[in-house]
Amino acid sequence: MSRRKKIYEGKAKIMYEGPEPGTLVQYFKDDATAFNAKKKEVIDGKGVLNNRLSEFFMSGLNQIGVPTHFIRRINMREQLIRLVEIIPLEVVVRIHAAGTLSERLGIEEGTLLPRPIVEFCLKDDALGDPLVSEEHIVAFGWASQHDLDDMIALALRVNDFLSGCMLAVGIRLIDFKIEVGRVWDGDFQRLIVADEISPDSCRLWDIESGQKLDKDVFRRDLGDLADAYTEVARRLGVLPSNVTHTPKPTLVN
Ligand code: TMP
Ligand code: ASP
Repeated sequence: MSRRKKIYEGKAKIMYEGPEPGTLVQYFKDDATAFNAKKKEVIDGKGVLNNRLSEFFMSGLNQIGVPTHFIRRINMREQLIRLVEIIPLEVVVRIHAAGTLSERLGIEEGTLLPRPIVEFCLKDDALGDPLVSEEHIVAFGWASQHDLDDMIALALRVNDFLSGCMLAVGIRLIDFKIEVGRVWDGDFQRLIVADEISPDSCRLWDIESGQKLDKDVFRRDLGDLADAYTEVARRLGVLPSNVTHTPKPTLVN
């Protein structure tokens, strides 16, 4: 990894300079954080699983005409992506109530919402990624009204795709978060899905048992996070054949 110039290190990923202009290499770490990194742990194998899962979702979206930053997977932990200018907003789509929506509005977790609801949070760790309105976004210049319309359209298309993928394997998509980036194709500017799509950024419940298969397992201490992500990857048929989540080797006397 030292051969490449590090551009940025986040909580779960590192970005390196890509092999050609306009590209980056996105490296998935094993670090898990929650509550704005107040809770931290290294989860063996999480990076490998999220690299594969994000590849699966992003390449599927590319194939149905929803543009993403994903170009190709390079190895177990890295993928080649398009360099984008990230819009400083987290776009959350909620299909069923959970998490902060349930806390804010007192709606029981799991309740089907009248329609998918799109929310925006400002990407600012120091402020704890606060919920912001479209008025705030346009007034403070984080994105234009036109960008917002495009972001909502992208988010709802991602929702239809992800909900369908999950339903097919017995998993209910409760909510998810995407990030959106700006790219220029010649003189034309457009918005594409960026960052990652993985169980780190979704809520996924087993339809039969209600078992949680996402980062809430870590946030709420519900069990082994890598086991949950492995189950999602296994059901989607994207588990690399040469990797299984096995316990660390232990010394035998
Ligand atoms: P919330 O209920 O905590 O607001 O989260 C809604 C969805 O957005 C959930 O699937 C988790 C995801 N999310 C992230 O991926 N990153 C974040 O920083 C936050 C706050 C939520
Ligand atoms: N991703 C955020 C953090 O690392 C919040 C979360 O997912 O709960 O703190």
